[in-house]
This record gives sequence, C-alpha cells and structure tokens, in this order.
Amino acid sequence: MEDRHRTGKPTESNDGCKVARTVGKSSLARLADYTTRSDHVLVGVMSGTSFDGIDAVAVRISTDTHGNIAKVEYLNHASIPYSKEVRSLLLPLCDVETSKIDNLVYAHFLLGEWYASAVHKLMGIAGLRKEDIDAVCIHGQTVWHAPAWRQLPGPDFEATPNATIAVHGTLQIGCAAVVKERLGIPVLYDFRSADMAAQGEGAPLAPIVDSLLFGDRARGRIVQNIGGIGNATAIPAGPDEAGVFAFDTGPGNMIMDELVRRFTRGEQQYDADGAIAARGHVSAPLLAYLMDDPYFRLAPPKSTGREVYGTTFVDKLEQFAAEQGLSYEDRIATATAFTAETIVCAYRDFIMPKMKIDDVVVGGGGALNTTLLNMMRQRLGSDAAVLTTMDFGFPPFVREPMAFALLGHLALMGRPGNLPKATGAQREVVLGSLTL
Ligand SMILES: Nc1ncnc2c1ncn2[C@@H]1O[C@H](COP(=O)(O)OP(=O)(O)O)[C@@H](O)[C@H]1O
Ligand SMILES: [Mg+2]
Repeated sequence: MEDRHRTGKPTESNDGCKVARTVGKSSLARLADYTTRSDHVLVGVMSGTSFDGIDAVAVRISTDTHGNIAKVEYLNHASIPYSKEVRSLLLPLCDVETSKIDNLVYAHFLLGEWYASAVHKLMGIAGLRKEDIDAVCIHGQTVWHAPAWRQLPGPDFEATPNATIAVHGTLQIGCAAVVKERLGIPVLYDFRSADMAAQGEGAPLAPIVDSLLFGDRARGRIVQNIGGIGNATAIPAGPDEAGVFAFDTGPGNMIMDELVRRFTRGEQQYDADGAIAARGHVSAPLLAYLMDDPYFRLAPPKSTGREVYGTTFVDKLEQFAAEQGLSYEDRIATATAFTAETIVCAYRDFIMPKMKIDDVVVGGGGALNTTLLNMMRQRLGSDAAVLTTMDFGFPPFVREPMAFALLGHLALMGRPGNLPKATGAQREVVLGSLTL
C-alpha cells in the first residue's frame, strides 16, 4: 500500500504477479457484532462542491443499551487539498458542455485513491490502525445533482408505447471498492440515493446530525453550513429532533471562489478571511440583479448546486458588473453580500415565522470569511447571535465529514438517516451502500 501511494504504480511480486495488498475479513464478517457493541470508531470523508480538497474525520460513537447514540467524540481531522491538475480534471465533469465519459470513469477510480490517501493520512495523525476503525464513510464527489424530475421512457415502454416515468437522480464519484482495497476497512458510500429513491431531494442530509451535535433544550438554533453551497438546519429549542428542518439557502462560497480564480488566473482559490471583499463596496444594482432569482422565493424543501451557480451564473454576473464598471473588489464584495443576503432572507422568509432563533452556528470554510460573517451580523442585528462551530469545539471543516461518519453509524445500526421534512422524502430510509 505504501509503495502504491508513493509511486502510483501497482505493486508487483518477484514473479510479476499482482500482489493482494490487503487480506482480511469481508465487511459483513467485520461488522457482524456492530449493533451489539457500545463503542464504535468511524471515519467520515467529505469533498464538497467547493472542489478545495478532501476532509477526513475520525469519531468515536458510544451507544446505550437501546442502541441510541449516547456520546459522540471528535477524535481527529486530516485534509488534503486537490492539486490544480485534479481540480481541472474534475470541474469540467460537472458541466454538460465539457463533461467527457472517459474522464468521468477515470476520475471515479482516481478519487478512490485520493480518498484512501486522505484516510491514510488521518490514520497516521490519529494513531489509528485499520483494526481500530469499523468503517470509512465516504460522501464522494458530486458531479451532478438533479433533484428536478424529468420524464423518461418507462420500463413498460414496449407494452405501452410512449409511456414515460418521472426520474430524478444524483451522482457522487470516488470508487468505494478502491478505498476498501487500499485500506482493508469496510466502506459505506452513496448516501444520497436511498432518499431520492423515496422521492426525496437527496439533500440536505446533515440535519439529523446537526440536531444531535448543536441542538439545545433552551435555545433555538440555525446551523448554517457555508461550503460551495449554503445549507441551513433549523433546530427549535427542545429535547429531540421534532420540528427540525433544513434546506439549501443558495450559493455559499462558490461564486466568490470563481471570481477570485478568474481574476488571479487560478493562482488563488478563495478570498482568504474575506480580505478582498472588505476592500470593496457592495453594488446595490448588482445585488438586486442577483437576488432576482426564482430559487430564493421557492419554499423548502429545496436543494441546489453547481449546476445552477456555476460558471454560467458567474458569466452573467460578470457581464452585468462590466456594464456597471465595477472593480474586482466591488464584485467580490457584492458576491459576498449576495451570500449573506440569501442566507438571512431565507431565515426571515422560511424559518423565523415558524420558530424563535437565538443563535446561528456557522460551519464550513465560509466560517473563516470574516467579512461574510460580519455581513450576516449586520443583517441579523439583535435577532440572533452569529457563532461558528469553533465555539462548540469543532474546526470549520469537520462538521460535514463528521455528519457522514454519523450517518454511516446509523446505517450500520439499521436506522434511518434522512429527515423527510428536510429532503421531502416520502418516508425515513436507511442511507448508503456497503462494500462487501
Ligand atoms: N481562510 C479562509 N477564508 C475565507 N474562506 C475560506 C478560507 N478557507 C477556506 N475558505 C472557503 O471555504 C471553501 C471550502 O469550504 P468547505 O466547507 O470545504 O466547502 P465544500 O464542502 O463545498 O468543499 C473554500 O472554497 C473557500 O471558499
Ligand atoms: Mg471542501
């Protein structure tokens, strides 16, 4: 395994035959007593719509005699940034104009190697051996998320000519078999499909975990993830997850990142700490133009992605900004205000009429953008305090991979992981697939 990662070539034995790198029990044998044990260690792996890289987190989960989660302990975190080359292989796959099927297949297997490498790094940092980890839970890299229904030929096509059925779907790549082969640890993957099969949007999936980690008996909270896309989980004050709901608020860092990349010709990937935005002025006409988007008027449940706020959207923004003669700094400032405005408007329109909010807890890379946090504070005024996950002991990049470790745990316990109120699914379902 070591050699494989260093040289990028398959290991060969003296007689030239490929050597099995990991020999061990099947996933089923390793996980046979999972539901009856009270102590579990899982690794969650996430690479989001920002295409910044991979985050891997180890957690220890204790269960009580009823199999309910009693304690979640964050153990450690490792991240590996995507190289420029990998990013330029992956990004075109997320665009109908530029996606190529052979690149998609190779990227699927290549990402398996990258995920294994991220977990390997984490194991080194955390001092974990493969025997210590019950399962690796990988979200995968979304290349296309399509919650909108499309009419396509049904399976009874011949019997009933022209019969169509409504289909929606999603695709996360990163081959789980490669991850299992490299690490010798069972791998859970494809967490979104089961919810979509039950008519849900397949997103957002973190709410059940947000409720567990950030829910409070006395304080109403919104957990706001700001990755490539922004998602809000509304958690009313109270003892359980009743009343929890969630939705994508719109773009998170995606538009700011794209503007920075274009302006610096790929030298910089994001506006560190929001410093560029802090130097610019928000353009009211451009902000109004961007806010005039039907997604923001749509009531939850709803989800969105790079399909909507990718390069085409930024092209339109740039055209409008050029007509207004706006500087680079003003464009970044306005894109930052756009994210803050969409987030706070979503709270006012869809959350605050239903529940009292005391705190907003921001996670994801956007939690490091001081200008963005200040713009949210300005807009919220005294209505709610803006905190970050750091205030709860979790670094900003930990919440999402941790969520998938917990969803993997729920799956291994045979318990549902989706909240139908968040995804719009018809029922609660167990999420994920397992390598054998
Ligand atoms: N120091 C920083 N200052 C401001 N923004 C940052 C900083 N570090 C990361 N980010 C932002 O966070 C993004 C990555 O956030 P992440 O939570 O990993 O999102 P995703 O889940 O979409 O990958 C980066 O693309 C960048 O926009
Ligand atoms: Mg990321």
